[in-house]
Amino acid sequence: MDHRPGEPAAVAANALVRQKAHSLGPAGQEWLAELPARIGEMERRWSITVGQPLPGGTSSYVARARTRDGRDAVLKLSLPAADFAGQVRTLRLARGRGYAQLFAYDLGRHAMLQEALGPSMERLRPAPRQQIETLCAMLRRAWSVPRAVDPGPEKASVLGETVGRLWESLGRPCSERVVSLAMVFAGRRAAAFDPDRCVVVHGDPHPGNALRAPTPREGAEAGFVFVDPDGFLAERAYDLGVVLRDWCAELKGRDGAAAGGLVRSYCALLADRTGVDEEAIWEWGFLERVSTGLYVLDFGAEELGRPFLDTAELLACRPYAQ
Ligand SMILES: Nc1ncnc2c1ncn2[C@@H]1O[C@H](COP(=O)(O)OP(=O)(O)O)[C@@H](O)[C@H]1O
Ligand SMILES: [Mg+2]
Repeated sequence: MDHRPGEPAAVAANALVRQKAHSLGPAGQEWLAELPARIGEMERRWSITVGQPLPGGTSSYVARARTRDGRDAVLKLSLPAADFAGQVRTLRLARGRGYAQLFAYDLGRHAMLQEALGPSMERLRPAPRQQIETLCAMLRRAWSVPRAVDPGPEKASVLGETVGRLWESLGRPCSERVVSLAMVFAGRRAAAFDPDRCVVVHGDPHPGNALRAPTPREGAEAGFVFVDPDGFLAERAYDLGVVLRDWCAELKGRDGAAAGGLVRSYCALLADRTGVDEEAIWEWGFLERVSTGLYVLDFGAEELGRPFLDTAELLACRPYAQ
């Protein structure tokens, strides 16, 4: 702990969080300016001492904290753009099953206090197949969150529309073949939408949102739990498509056939471990790869966004595309 309660904290939101805050205009800049005061306020309200910031976020300031009775915890203060209420609702309903436990929250201040977890799967970097197996075990647990929300706007249509709009506004930064295929897949997943078969999906279950549970407990049987849920209703294949969307580093330097073969094998593993239809996972995975690439380019992180589009070009080759 680097300071006492009530004293201003040394605050340094990481570069991506700052970039995202600035992209939000005055509301984001205000959030950055008020961050030190907000931390002090939460320390007083929740009787905690806030310590070192944690790396890895894109939409929040996250830091270690200690409660008055000496328990380790983590304070998260989210940017105003995030669906903070939705995130809190999902964590509350999960009650630690597949997710971080929630100790306290303040919807107006976009603040929450969570159990302290260990490093992310992204930092620990087990082999890709091990990561996929663990993420599947975590998702099987996380999909048991009770459905307490109406189906929002259907996700595939939203993503298809976003892909078309961003492709034009960014000056067509990938081939028409990639965008057309993403649109075809968006249309198929939208047509397959069935509210009765939806679960509360995590929405962004990438290895950076999977954190090691330091001690065994109920709900953390996979050894990791999720943070940062979007928590909307969708078919299970959606979350698995998000898992399939990553692996740009593993695909780098491969030709279309080799890249397609590798991603197909990951897709088969995801289907096998969850019993979910492989083609549905493939379609979501491709749509997510393209929409994420465009979305990240749009908020100005070219280096992070480009590999998603480059790998989509590889995967759009026959016979893997379909
Ligand atoms: N409960 C926690 N325990 C330990 N580290 C955490 C916890 N919550 C978040 N973190 C760290 O902060 C990072 C960002 O948190 P996250 O909730 O994903 O925020 P963002 O909305 O910015 O993505 C995580 O990748 C992890 O490194
Ligand atoms: Mg996150």
